[in-house]
Amino acid sequence: MSLLQLEGVSKRFGQVVVGEGITFQLDSGDALGIVGPNGAGKTSLFSMISGDIAPDSGVISFDGADLGHLSANRRARAGIGRTYQVPRPFEHMTVFENTLLAAQQGAKLRGQRSYDAAYGALDRTGLGDFANRRAGSLTLLHRKRLELGRALATSPRVLLLDEIAGGLTDLEVNLLTEIIRDLRHDGIAVVWIEHVVRALVSTVDRLLCLAGGVIVADGEPKEVLASEAVRSVYLGGKRIVEGVS
Ligand SMILES: Nc1ncnc2c1ncn2[C@@H]1O[C@H](COP(=O)(O)OP(=O)(O)OP(=O)(O)O)[C@@H](O)[C@H]1O
Ligand SMILES: [Mg+2]
Repeated sequence: MSLLQLEGVSKRFGQVVVGEGITFQLDSGDALGIVGPNGAGKTSLFSMISGDIAPDSGVISFDGADLGHLSANRRARAGIGRTYQVPRPFEHMTVFENTLLAAQQGAKLRGQRSYDAAYGALDRTGLGDFANRRAGSLTLLHRKRLELGRALATSPRVLLLDEIAGGLTDLEVNLLTEIIRDLRHDGIAVVWIEHVVRALVSTVDRLLCLAGGVIVADGEPKEVLASEAVRSVYLGGKRIVEGVS
């Protein structure tokens, strides 16, 4: 039995197909990357897993149970954590208050356990020294880390990362991939949507390419990136394989 399993998941917004028969599975400690052009349905896929939007058809199960109509909150408590493409911290709160709120609201932890989860998340994301800063005053790197920290504070078993490396320098991306490798090591399953392909390839062991809501390639990262299907999806084909070989 897989930790996370999608079977024939489909969704459209009017005429726009964002998911069509999406099927894959994931076990503890697995790291799966997702690439695909803008508008392919990548973020929508996360929203269906996290419970922010409902699929039109198909089954998403977690730990053997159909998530069905479980609310986003219940899914977070069950162990599904996600980050958002546009980081959305509470700007006026401190970094620590943001992770504490995630632990208390997302995971419904109380008292000392919520504090431990919040501090643990800051530790793991290297934000310990920033605990008392206002979230609104952070640089992009630290905002991305806080987005990750808020997801970690909910003690996820599956972590859905939506473009957390975009806009960062190479060095900053490396620091981020180290954090993600550590998380895998602890048995957290990671699904990572990213346009910074170099970061993905060094971190994931499997890659999906999504286009028009359909999985057009699925397999070993470098093979997927080199595949005809993926090249034809990206006009000018080269961009996706830059810096990989
Ligand atoms: N709530 C919504 N209502 C209507 N259309 C939507 C909604 N959410 C997304 N869409 C549309 O669905 C398509 C897929 O969007 P999605 O955000 O999933 O793409 P994406 O692969 O994450 O793209 P990007 O790489 O730009 O982040 C887009 O055409 C988008 O405009
Ligand atoms: Mg997106």
